[in-house]
Amino acid sequence: MNNKNLKKLVRPNLFKISPYIPGRPKEEICREFNLAKKDVIKMASNENALGVYEVIADELKKCLEEIYLYPEGGGKEVCKKLGDQWGLSPDNFILGNGCDEIISMVCETFLKPGDEAVIGKPTFSYYEIACRIADAKCVFVPLRNYKYDLTDILKKITSKTKLVFICNPNNPTGTIVTKKEVDKFLHLLPDHVIAVFDEAYAEYVDDVNFPNSMEYLRGKINKNIIILRTFSKVYSLAGLRIGYGISNSEIIKYLNLVRKPFNVNRLAQCAALASLEHKEWLDRSREMVFDGKEYLYKQLDKSGIKYVPSQANFLLIELARKGEIISDKLLAYGIIVRPTTSFGLPDCIRVTVGTKKQNKRFIEVLKKILLLNF
Ligand SMILES: Cc1ncc(COP(=O)(O)O)c(C=O)c1O
Repeated sequence: MNNKNLKKLVRPNLFKISPYIPGRPKEEICREFNLAKKDVIKMASNENALGVYEVIADELKKCLEEIYLYPEGGGKEVCKKLGDQWGLSPDNFILGNGCDEIISMVCETFLKPGDEAVIGKPTFSYYEIACRIADAKCVFVPLRNYKYDLTDILKKITSKTKLVFICNPNNPTGTIVTKKEVDKFLHLLPDHVIAVFDEAYAEYVDDVNFPNSMEYLRGKINKNIIILRTFSKVYSLAGLRIGYGISNSEIIKYLNLVRKPFNVNRLAQCAALASLEHKEWLDRSREMVFDGKEYLYKQLDKSGIKYVPSQANFLLIELARKGEIISDKLLAYGIIVRPTTSFGLPDCIRVTVGTKKQNKRFIEVLKKILLLNF
């Protein structure tokens, strides 16, 4: 079979997909620039710069003896613990191989070709990818002043709309929508639409106006909503792949129809359970991020570099230069950040808040690069 014929076998909607661009891995940068791993700082994927919590690493070592056995299929124990934590029933939870997989499951469950999904722009790119895989139409709503505008989103809802994705705090801008805005939005949301609130960074929010979205599931507002949370960020488990969805038990039942039998591995479930027991890690991580943001804001202000104040563990920095050029230059110094061209923000970079030492190094190098004539 020649290549031309092979292409015809592929579902045509897949050609509309721009592949997901991840932050570049440390190993690749070490090879490319001949640097030792200890000299490379990853500030590109919003992982937890504190690294692995030793208590969880010890639990994982114990769990290794069991990896010849399949994991518990639906992650019942984790769902039960999450239910206790959030004051909900285990039936309100579904686990995913990262919340990426839950986004896929949501699209697979609800979208058929021609359905519409409303998505902010710029935002986390996987919503668009998952919708396009399902052959749905993506309806984009530009952010206003780097922020989701829920009134604009409501205006884009039609009879064909099935899903609305709201990233709160938003990646890559770090901005939030408030409880007041969400209350009003949900009040006006039609019954044929499901609102997906992606709260991957919620643990880092310190704005008192952030909604406690679990309240919406405790019966206060009878609307179709799905909340997404992850163990990849504040819990430091990005490499294990575990996230969760929270919704009413009927929606969870439908999502389970498309869930693969053993989608979340044994180590991930073990680490998640242990993490829910050891909340001290969250406090340490949050403190690092709050202190780190304060330092970065101060330094950027001093240098006259603009940024968007963030409620997450990353910062969108506006540069009067191409972000790609700046991020390439940072790479040569072993600092990996995320250029935001693929988000439609060519003059910005997104930088994960690091440890004190990493933030200091980043600022020193950034200033040096910006002073150079190129
Ligand atoms: C907003 C948002 N949602 C979801 C994810 C994916 O998280 P996970 O690692 O749980 O798949 C990310 C990862 O960067 C993200 O930024």
